Parts: sequence; C-alpha cells; structure tokens
Amino acid sequence: LALIAVILLVVILAIVLGVTLSKRRDDFNTKFMERCQKFKGYNCQKIWDAFQQAYVNRDRCDVPTEAYDPLITTAPFESLCNRMMFWSKTKKVVHDFTGRKDCFKTVEDTLLGSVLNELVWCGKNGSSETFTTGCPKWEECEKSAVRSFWNRVSAAFGDFACGNVTVMLNGSIDTPFSPTSIFASIEVKKFKSPKVKNLNVVLVIQKNSVTNCTNESLKNLRMGLDKGINYHCFEVPDSHLKECSSDPEKPCGACW
Ligand code: APR
Repeated sequence: LALIAVILLVVILAIVLGVTLSKRRDDFNTKFMERCQKFKGYNCQKIWDAFQQAYVNRDRCDVPTEAYDPLITTAPFESLCNRMMFWSKTKKVVHDFTGRKDCFKTVEDTLLGSVLNELVWCGKNGSSETFTTGCPKWEECEKSAVRSFWNRVSAAFGDFACGNVTVMLNGSIDTPFSPTSIFASIEVKKFKSPKVKNLNVVLVIQKNSVTNCTNESLKNLRMGLDKGINYHCFEVPDSHLKECSSDPEKPCGACW
C-alpha cells in the first residue's frame, strides 16, 4: 500500500511540474504574441517562428548574434528618420521621455524591442523548447540568447539611423560614453555620413551631476564619428526633461 502511495505521489508531482513548466512556456509565448499584436501590419506567428529558430536547440551560452538575422528581416523597423533615440545608462529617464513624446523612438519602442523588453529566455541542446528559468545572467556569457538578441537588434537599429540622430547619456557618471556599452561598441559605429547628418547628445544632468559636455569620453565620441557627421551636445536637467515631456504644447525636439 505504501509503495502504491509513493508511486501515486510521484505521478502527481510529475503532472504538477509538467503543467507548471508548460504554463511558464505558454506565458512567454502569450506575452510575446500580445505585445506583438499591438503593432499593426506584422505577421506575429512568422515573427515568433523566426525568433525561436535563433536559440532553440542551442547551448544557453552559444547563440551567435547572426542567429537573429532572419528575425530582423521578418520584422523590419518602420521609417524613423530624424526620430531615432539612442541611450546609455539612462534607461528610465529616456523611456519616460519617449513614452510621453511620440516623436522620438528608442529600439525598445519598436516591435522587436518592445516585445522582448525585460524578458528572459533561452534554449537547451537537444530540446525544441523555450525556457524562461535557468537562463544565464547578462554577465555570465557574452553569447546568451538574450545578450545576442540585444546586440543584434541594436546593430540593426544603428544601421537604420538616418538624418538627425539623438542620444541620451547620463551626466551623473564619470564616463557617459563608455567604450563597453552597446551604444559605443555597436551602435555609434554603424552611423554613416551622409545618411546620418547630425548627432545630438542630450546629457541628462541631475543635482549631483559630475559631468558636462566637456567630458573626456564625449570627446572620444565626437572624434570617433564618421567624417561628415555633425555633433552637438546639450546639458539638460532631468527636471526640465520631465516638465517638457509632459507639456503637450512643446513641439518635438524643443526640449533641448
Ligand atoms: N547586466 C544586465 N543587463 C545589462 C548589463 C548588465 N551588466 N549591461 C547591459 N545590460 C542591458 C540591460 O537591459 C540594460 O538596461 O542593456 C541595457 C542597457 O545597458 P546600458 O549600459 O545602460 O546602455 P548600453 O549598453 O549603451 O545599451 C543601450 O543599446 O539597447 C540599445 O538602442 C539601445 O542605445 C541603446 C543602447
């Protein structure tokens, strides 16, 4: 009788575990689809298929950035000339801003960026499933499914840059243009003249800010730009950004 009870318990546990795991997976897929369907004119099933093929059946630390090439092709950016907003170490302030002012778009405001923002996923060798637990942390490996995706989509966003480009950098740190950031190591390198005409740096200043537009790292940014791209830097208090973004009267770009 005891044996039967143990077997029964194991079976019940296995079922509960199985249901929980598949629910987690469905949650991920559901969230992906719901977020995707907010964008009109895209085939979300096709985008999901292209997304999955990048990392399923691969080691959790061995997803090359190129694995996401088909995904990028399946969900192209809409035209964004003069409205593209890049950022580094300003995640909250930049998205508060673009969330209120429709004129600027970060990669997280595009379909792929918004669908995958803040999500964690990975695959496993020998499995066709998507996992959302047991995935490597950002620092843990350079070629995780998540990190390779952000590197790839950022490269595509940088490639796509045209006209007047804006970047929001953090004036409260010593090195607002950090060589290891995605912005410095991937995106800026894709800006090409004459497609990109001008780069506006919005240096977000707080009360305790240690940096201004004369910062050494910003000189490196300016010097490293493709020849022909103009450069401007604006020191903008974060309080001013908040005020300006919530004022419907203020036109796009009039906040600095
Ligand atoms: N641990 C966890 N997440 C990290 C880490 C880390 N050490 N480093 C980067 N990230 C992820 C996080 O999601 C973080 O919010 O990258 C995001 C941006 O990192 P930052 O260092 O603030 O900036 P940067 O590396 O320049 O990336 C931002 O890339 O996403 C594109 O177009 C976007 O211009 C933007 C740039």
